[in-house]
Amino acid sequence: MFKPFQTSRAITGPLYLQIRLHSTTNQPKFGFALDIDGVLIKGNRVIPQAQRALRLLNGENASGKKIPFVLLTNGGGVTEEKKAAQMSRKLDMDILPSQIVLSHSPMRSLVKKYKDTPVLVVGGRERSCKDVAEQYGFQRPIQPDDIHHWEKSVWPFRRVTDDEAYEAQKRYDFSREPIEAIMMFHDSRDWGRDLQIMMDVLRSKNGMIGTQKTDYSVQDTPVYFSNPDFLWSNEFPVPRYGQGAFKTALEAIYKRHTGKELKSTSFGKPHRATYEYAEKILTSLLPNNTPLQRVFAVGDNPAADIAGANAYGWTSILVRTGVFDGKGNSSEFPAKLVCDDIEEAVHWALNEEGLK
Ligand code: G3P
Ligand code: MG
Repeated sequence: MFKPFQTSRAITGPLYLQIRLHSTTNQPKFGFALDIDGVLIKGNRVIPQAQRALRLLNGENASGKKIPFVLLTNGGGVTEEKKAAQMSRKLDMDILPSQIVLSHSPMRSLVKKYKDTPVLVVGGRERSCKDVAEQYGFQRPIQPDDIHHWEKSVWPFRRVTDDEAYEAQKRYDFSREPIEAIMMFHDSRDWGRDLQIMMDVLRSKNGMIGTQKTDYSVQDTPVYFSNPDFLWSNEFPVPRYGQGAFKTALEAIYKRHTGKELKSTSFGKPHRATYEYAEKILTSLLPNNTPLQRVFAVGDNPAADIAGANAYGWTSILVRTGVFDGKGNSSEFPAKLVCDDIEEAVHWALNEEGLK
């Protein structure tokens, strides 16, 4: 900040303090955590109010000040860089990778424990979640495809080409390499196959595919989910089943087969780890260590966006452009404010902060 002001002599003393005071006191001490699906976009369609709302935050407001914001989504399946590029294209404005918090972003914390061990990374398109895992620092991410290509009888309902089989058998031998953990990074593209393979790991002796335990009193393989959403909103008139529905299916099969409850760790909204992570990111976007005093969290899913924001002490705003379309407030997870769309939400918040 002070570089351009630099004259031949360094600016010190009361003038420096005055400038410093002015620059921090005038900085907005609040920020926004904006949900993506059902708030900014619905599938491939951009919600019209979204661009206007973000322009308001980007300085086109009465104060001319930029208001820091992060896009806090239970979506994922790509790197933060890729998501930032996608959202910048869709919203026709620069969104930085540092402004993106994906469902699996906080799962970087698991790298310490699983850096060099085979972990089964489930979900997403083709190898995209493997790329994400490798970028986070996991050295040996395995996908259900790798196991299926290595032994096609694992799931006989989908053809494995000779090339796929040859490649996988050259690279892997899952009868010798135990899977140490299962991490769901994004929605499965093949529920049946992925449920089968996840159960094969969970029923095996210490993660060795093709073996089978008899005693299920101890669950050998930890399971991590990145997104608890049972429903999410895209272009289709009614919400779609999300990763939370897949989790419900896996738990039901596990219970039926082992008689035990499946133990797992969940990330994503409304879980605290995700908010602690997002808060760090948002704080880092405020200039000159300006303290973050308030966060407006805008979302369309009461069970995720509103429950999480309320529990974390943020100001929750529920919009009617996605999963929730009720007239009043959510009875289960009431929001501080309910409004029709993101633009109305941002206007209200700026007014609350006296920037209107
Ligand atoms: O798969 C993503 C979906 O569950 C919801 O995403 O952006 O509304 O948190 P989002
Ligand atoms: Mg949403």
